[in-house]
Amino acid sequence: DLTDISTLLLSRIRDVADYPEPGVMFKDITPLLADPAAFSALTDAFAGICARTGATKVVGLEARGFILGAPVAVRAGLGFVPVRKAGKLPGATLSQAYDLEYGSAEIEIHAEDLTADDRVMVVDDVLATGGTAEASLRLIRRAGAEVAGVSVLMELGFLGGRDRLAPALDGAPLEAL
Ligand code: PRP
Repeated sequence: DLTDISTLLLSRIRDVADYPEPGVMFKDITPLLADPAAFSALTDAFAGICARTGATKVVGLEARGFILGAPVAVRAGLGFVPVRKAGKLPGATLSQAYDLEYGSAEIEIHAEDLTADDRVMVVDDVLATGGTAEASLRLIRRAGAEVAGVSVLMELGFLGGRDRLAPALDGAPLEAL
């Protein structure tokens, strides 16, 4: 059940103090990726959420969302679409800027990879402030597709990402394993 899975997954996430800068506790997922049972359980859990929500595509957010999202798409029998940092996609893109604590960032998607028939599940490792996920939901809607939900391994609740994301989710689920 979900409690057992969460316990397994949590045991494979390494806390790294003062990385990438002093005062930050980095959540390192590489031990989880190196453990085939944990990686497979995570993939199954995400794929189950895709099935329950009727998703037709998986969008993975650069970079760790690529590692987690691609096997979910394969296991769920869905296509995979990358959301990349600006300047990395060669085709016709939609771009979305968003605010960071200091400064701003921009992400992009290939517009033609989504259609009006798609229901999209966003997959990423961490929901922190929610800025990246919120911008990705805007891209998905601007591409003409529907949002099936957002699935993350971890939610850093103290940063308020769930509240920031709520309007963009517009009733679609946010699942944090
Ligand atoms: C991290 C994480 C999420 C995002 C969450 O990615 O993997 O994508 O930040 O932060 P937010 O909720 O405050 O937007 P990062 O920008 O470190 O990119 P990387 O995976 O390419 O290193």
